[in-house]
Parts: sequence; structure tokens; C-alpha cells
Amino acid sequence: MRILITGGAGFIGSHTADALLARGHEVRVLDSLEEPVHPGRRVPDYLDRRVEFMRGDVRDEATLLRALQDQDAVYHLAAFQDYLPQFSRFVDVNVASTARIYELALREKLPLRRVIVASSRRPSARGSTSTRTVAAAFPTCGPTRSSAAASSSARRRRASADRSAGSRPTRASRTRRIPTA
Ligand SMILES: NC(=O)c1ccc[n+]([C@@H]2O[C@H](COP(=O)([O-])OP(=O)(O)OC[C@H]3O[C@@H](n4cnc5c(N)ncnc54)[C@H](O)[C@@H]3O)[C@@H](O)[C@H]2O)c1
Repeated sequence: MRILITGGAGFIGSHTADALLARGHEVRVLDSLEEPVHPGRRVPDYLDRRVEFMRGDVRDEATLLRALQDQDAVYHLAAFQDYLPQFSRFVDVNVASTARIYELALREKLPLRRVIVASSRRPSARGSTSTRTVAAAFPTCGPTRSSAAASSSARRRRASADRSAGSRPTRASRTRRIPTA
């Protein structure tokens, strides 16, 4: 399949790219290379050379449409996180762009067969916050039906990586950890 990964230069996105390439898929990445995730806004060395890289912002409709052309599926992993209080930017990047993908798919009759969106990292967090409470407060933060299976195996891999790292999942961007399982 031809698969677009938005935010594919980030932590989850780049590992997803590796996994998809290993399974023989063609991968395109749309990423705006935001700092501080990407110092100097350079394409990261760890991004596989077989990836078709497009530098661009998911908030820009024309750019997003170009990236979605001729793709069978999209993993929507572009995310602006942890840099509050830029609340409106957070909503534009993380929420409105998801809606924009569906709008474009319908309006342009794109041949997309599947859209996979990221769950919040909150359900996998340990500590005092209960997953049940968060899921109730933000119903959209749980895994979607289409991504539930993938999330479950990703959770297992993450749990294993976290155990070896001896810490809870951290923002990926600091260093790209290599999963151990
Ligand atoms: N890291 C985790 O442990 C974890 C766990 C569960 C869910 N998630 C979710 O997965 C998603 C990705 O997380 P991550 O850890 O890979 O984040 P990350 O910060 O490593 O990657 C996000 C990528 O999105 C790009 N980006 C930001 N704004 C953009 C824009 N406007 N247009 C295009 N690209 C843009 C960044 O440059 C970056 O490469 C997030 O929604 C996150 O909540 C992460």
C-alpha cells in the first residue's frame, strides 16, 4: 500500500515508517519539522532514505491535499504537544487537521481506504491519573475502533521499552529510542 504518515519525522511516526517499510509498503511523510523536536528544523538522520519526505504543515489545506494524493491510507501522527499555552495552535494541529483529512477525503473523493489516528498517550500513562477518568472526560482520547488493534500491540512494545528504560513514556522527541521488542 501507499501510506502517508503525517508527523512521520517524529518519534511514533518514524518508527511507524520503519515498520511499514519493513512490510513492503511505500511511505510518504508530511512533517513541518517543528522545534524543539527537530533542532535546526533539519530532516532527522534516522528517517529512512526510502521515505518520500514532504516538508509541510497539516494546517495548510493545499499542502495536506498534495500529501494525501494517491495514498491508500494515512497515519495521522502530526502533533503539537507540551508547549502550552498556545491552545489555539494545539487545537488547529491536533484536532482540526484530523477533521480536515476527512473533509478532503470526501470532497476530493480520495481513494483512502483507512485513516489511523493516534490515541492520546494518557491512557498508557502510569501514576495517579486514572485512565477511566480521562477517557470519560475526553471521549475522543481513547483508541479509535480502527486503531485499537494497532494500539494494543504498540502498548505492549512500549511497555517493554519502558521497562528497559526504567521510566514512564516520555516525549519522544528528545531522543529517538529504539524499541526492544
Ligand atoms: N510518544 C508517546 O509515548 C505517545 C504515546 C501515545 C500516543 N502518542 C501520540 O502520538 C502522536 C505523535 O507523538 P510523538 O511522540 O511521535 O510526537 P513527536 O513530537 O515526536 O512527533 C510529532 C511530529 O509532528 C510534527 N508536526 C508538529 N506540528 C506539525 C504540523 N503543523 N504539520 C506537520 N507536522 C507537524 C513534528 O515536527 C514532529 O515530527 C501524538 O498525537 C501523541 O499524543 C504518543
